[in-house]
Amino acid sequence: MNIKIKDSMLPSGERGKVTADPLNSPTLPSRYYTDESIYRQEMTHIHRKAWTYIGHVGDVPETGYYFTDTVGEQPIVVVRGGDDVVRCFYNVCPHRGHQLLEGAGKLKAKGISCPYHAWMFHLDGRLGVARLTEHVKDFDKSQFGLKEIRIAFAAGLIFATLDPDANDFADEMEGFVENIEHFLPAAKDFIVAERLHYDIKANWKTVVDNFSEAYHIPICHPQLSKVLEQEMEELKAERRWTFNRFKSKEGFPGFELTPGSPYYAWQAWPHFCALSLPGSNNLIVLRMAPDGVGRCAERVDIYTPKGEEDNPKLGAVRDLFMHMFNIEDIAIVESVQRGLASMGYDQGRYICDKEDSWFTEYQLHWLHMQVLEALGDAA
Ligand code: FES
Ligand SMILES: [Fe+2]
Repeated sequence: MNIKIKDSMLPSGERGKVTADPLNSPTLPSRYYTDESIYRQEMTHIHRKAWTYIGHVGDVPETGYYFTDTVGEQPIVVVRGGDDVVRCFYNVCPHRGHQLLEGAGKLKAKGISCPYHAWMFHLDGRLGVARLTEHVKDFDKSQFGLKEIRIAFAAGLIFATLDPDANDFADEMEGFVENIEHFLPAAKDFIVAERLHYDIKANWKTVVDNFSEAYHIPICHPQLSKVLEQEMEELKAERRWTFNRFKSKEGFPGFELTPGSPYYAWQAWPHFCALSLPGSNNLIVLRMAPDGVGRCAERVDIYTPKGEEDNPKLGAVRDLFMHMFNIEDIAIVESVQRGLASMGYDQGRYICDKEDSWFTEYQLHWLHMQVLEALGDAA
């Protein structure tokens, strides 16, 4: 996994010091989920530095299409230019700071017009029209373009980093694109069939932790247990991403499956979680945008090939996901978040074995090592 962790980065709690060996380590102390100052450090060292999932090229299919989002608590906008290039900018006007765009859709004008004093920006970010600035001494339009943000593409998915000095996506995420394209070759042409928003009363890591282990599945998701074989076919843990491959069972009435159909799960640092469930051609991406130490804005994007948005098989997958296990998971993580704030709890254990069996909490530890590495000696 190649995480550069030094002894000084490993914190201690009631059960002792966290270690680089999941079989022999207490879990991350609960203050990492409740302490405002650690949250602020994460914002600086994680969310404003990491490559973060924001959407899909299908969201900006033609010139003038845009969508807005938030990365590291910073409003951003993604837009496709007249030159067919997709760009990302801070969603702020360089005049006096008004937000430029809201939501998503197609621009009515040829450029981006600020709602406050109507400065107009070309889709490549250059300032076009700025009313009455001929009266302003030494006003240089070229100095007032939109501030651009680096983006990268992976099987049609768009990732952004606010850090101008971040390593290139291809280096950080080596092998990730190839892996998705190998198992889901059509993903780059998918479109979003549905986008769901959940305001969860839990730290972003509480939600990602829960996604990253199957130990709870037989207990908390009885219907999902009828869909998935417990044995994991493959667990791959790279520096910044992981991949799991499972096989399906026969399903249940209303969700019949051919036993042995594949099922995939990906995780990428810091809070990209994705699934491709058996039963239809789909990619379900969850991302947990932090929104304060005890809250996160989960967004669930359900992708499918064009023309299959209304396929009843996709509807069955969506219902399984949305009405069963995502609802079950939200109740779990909100309970865990309350527990993390309890004076009766600080650290537990990672439930793992040497064989990386289906129940392993190895990926929880993988995530926590990255949090500690990113915070360095800061926390
Ligand atoms: S703040 Fe945008 S034009 Fe003034
Ligand atoms: Fe779950």
